[in-house]
Amino acid sequence: MCGIVGYIGKRPAVPIIVNGIAKLDYRGYDSAGFAISENNRFVSFKTKGKLENLRKRIHGLSFSGTRGIAHTRWATHGKPSEKNAHPHFSHKKDIVVVHNGIIENHTALRKYLESKGHHFSSETDTETIPHLIGMFYQGNLENAVVAALKDLQGTYGLAIMAEKENKIVVARKGSPIIIGIIRTGEYIVASDVTAIGEYTKKIVYLSDGDIAVLTPKGYQIFNLEKKEVNRKIENITWSLDAIEKKGFAHFMLKEIYEQPETLANALRGKWDARRMMPKFGGLNIPEYDINNLQRVIILACGTSWHAGLVAEYYLEKFAGFQVEVEYASEFLCKMDDLGSRDLVIPISQSGETIDTLMALRKANKFGVYSLGIVNSVGSTIAREVTGGSYIHVGLEIGVASTKAFTGQIMALYLLAIYLGRVRGILKGAQADILFKKARALPGLVTEIFKNERTIISIARKFKRAANFIYLGRGLNYPTALEGALKLKEISYIHAEAFPAAEMKHGPIALVDRKMPVVFTVQKDDGYEKILSNIEEIRARKGIIIAVVEKGDSLVRKKADYIIEVPGTSMFLSPMLNIVPLQLLAYHIARLRGCEIDKPRNLAKSVTVE
Ligand code: F6R
Repeated sequence: MCGIVGYIGKRPAVPIIVNGIAKLDYRGYDSAGFAISENNRFVSFKTKGKLENLRKRIHGLSFSGTRGIAHTRWATHGKPSEKNAHPHFSHKKDIVVVHNGIIENHTALRKYLESKGHHFSSETDTETIPHLIGMFYQGNLENAVVAALKDLQGTYGLAIMAEKENKIVVARKGSPIIIGIIRTGEYIVASDVTAIGEYTKKIVYLSDGDIAVLTPKGYQIFNLEKKEVNRKIENITWSLDAIEKKGFAHFMLKEIYEQPETLANALRGKWDARRMMPKFGGLNIPEYDINNLQRVIILACGTSWHAGLVAEYYLEKFAGFQVEVEYASEFLCKMDDLGSRDLVIPISQSGETIDTLMALRKANKFGVYSLGIVNSVGSTIAREVTGGSYIHVGLEIGVASTKAFTGQIMALYLLAIYLGRVRGILKGAQADILFKKARALPGLVTEIFKNERTIISIARKFKRAANFIYLGRGLNYPTALEGALKLKEISYIHAEAFPAAEMKHGPIALVDRKMPVVFTVQKDDGYEKILSNIEEIRARKGIIIAVVEKGDSLVRKKADYIIEVPGTSMFLSPMLNIVPLQLLAYHIARLRGCEIDKPRNLAKSVTVE
């Protein structure tokens, strides 16, 4: 989604800010632009499409300005176009703004500003911001920003410059902004830490309501009441290796292949042999309160929501909770009344998904415990929960989430075992077996990679299919949902997933000799039933592709194509079964020539509601 980078210091700003937004391009965008101050005059360039177009536009030009802001835009209000790309200017062109988020009262503001004679040059909600700041501007940018922010409704991460003042002002509400300290007098600001890592490891996360002024003399943070606030300087710990493909054709493939390592990391040092339970440092819930809890409400979107559906089984079975897995956006529409016996678990790779953040804020108003299962360290969701656990799978660059999905499931598996032990539902020996079985998982995922040739040959057969159906039962229904999501995201093939038995209540009407149906088959209580579901598809001449446990001769006889995975416990099977489905989606998309790491219309972190 949209990305912001700004720089103020001694060096020419353009290479730094353009390089910075290039680091954010994995988030998805459709236009880009920047503005710098060149001898106290603004110079700005914007282009539609890839950053390459912007680079070509400025090729051969030289810029000496040491202050600038840049932006990648993912269209919300107004189509992707040069005129809608950021930065946007005030009426007198003396204020310039880049913005992430949405201004909800932009229609009323625009009407008001137009009635005062302001002329707008874009269809965006953002353009109201520089116009408003311009209206309040009397030579001090931060004063004008504070005045304007009081009239804005919605969400924003902002970087703002005035032509005649050597400063950058940034502000945040609901959309992240961080300050990177290169050295005193040299600062970089961004919406995402990835843009900053090359220049500094020292960062300051702004909180909602913060406004910061950066000048070549230093920086200051204050709130809307103009009271100074202190935010601590933190150190980025991840390495820049994460943003290299390391010989893989795409980040997505690299991230699929990282799963044995990320799963092993999730388990390392996690076992408390004395108490026979997983260790959790940051949950911040006293054990007597854990015993009092009754209901868990999981809040998430997309892939993270699928991980939540798997966790529902763990939390019910291991820890005796009543569990509700909510789409975060739908939770916002409900009239829930949460109480002291409820525990809220937001799951988010980015930690910035606005739907999940807003749902968490709604839940937090009831004073409940909230445990975040988050990947991105220091992200907004991680900071607004009462406790939680990072999944530590490292930076995920491919827009289609892979290693974060298995990392989330593993973190939730351990959390459910921990809660089950504290609540006396699991015995020490049972927890020990569950943990030991998980320890085998990284090795089992590695075995699946040996089947990549089989998966590629299936991908070749179906690369031109128009539709796919994915079916699974129980814990592997979420696996089917996730497999279908992966395929549609990166190959643009229409794919739907259903609980295997539900298929006969309607979707079976779609099955004919052209329809590939992907089954994930686990040898659990539902095995016999899923065999019948396979027969039902066969009878309609559908093409059966089955992910099965090694040596499953019954399914082998019925299916057209087989992908074998090693046997594991029913509970761990989603983390194994999803791997061939990730690879299948990847290879189909590759053979179709799709842009795998940055699929059309998608963004890595969805920061608009
Ligand atoms: C799918 C995908 C999305 C995200 C969803 C939630 O591959 O990436 O469906 O899972 O947008 O994002 P997070 O987990 O960052 O909250």
